[in-house]
Parts: sequence; C-alpha cells; structure tokens
Amino acid sequence: MVEIVFVEADGEEITVDAEVGEPLMRAAKNGGVAGVVAQCDGSMACGTCQVYLEPDWYQRLEDPSEIEGDLIEFSLFPRETSRLSCQIPVVAEMEGMRVSVPEAQL
Ligand code: FES
Repeated sequence: MVEIVFVEADGEEITVDAEVGEPLMRAAKNGGVAGVVAQCDGSMACGTCQVYLEPDWYQRLEDPSEIEGDLIEFSLFPRETSRLSCQIPVVAEMEGMRVSVPEAQL
C-alpha cells in the first residue's frame, strides 16, 4: 500500500492507502475524499476528478493526453498542475505524496 495525503479545499487532510496500479481517483474515492467527485467513474468524460499535483510530481508524470487537457481546460478552477486523477496510476514512489483538491468540481 502507498500512503497518499489528499488536502481538501478547506484544508482537511485525508491520508489514504492506495494500491499500486489503481487510479489515484479510486484511492481518493475509497478513502472518502469528498472533493474528488468522479462523476463518470474514470471514463474520462466528466473532468470532476481534477486534482492539483505538487510541481515536482506534475513534471515527473507523462504529459496529459489531448482529451485530458481539454477536460481540464473546461473544468472549474484549473491550475498549471491540474490533472485528472482517474488518469494517474498509483506507483510506489508516490508514498507520502500530497495532492490538493479544488474547491468545487461541478
Ligand atoms: S472520473 Fe470522470 S474524467 Fe476522471
């Protein structure tokens, strides 16, 4: 298991145990992170699983696909380090990673 800390918009921190290989979105949902809505359940059709990565993690990951980029562009409160958490598989190196959640997704 990999411990990942989600920071809700109100500052509440929720530490979740994620499985290697599962999408970051799934770990957030299983851990009760309210700010990750994930309306389409990972079909990359909603953009409501947006999270903000720390800059170093944003750079370490592969660039978002064109579709993901479009969804982020039309999501609420996008930032430079926004990603869709359903598109990010958990890896062991993410142990202790902090991920922030937008103040609203819908
Ligand atoms: S869950 Fe809908 S785009 Fe990620």
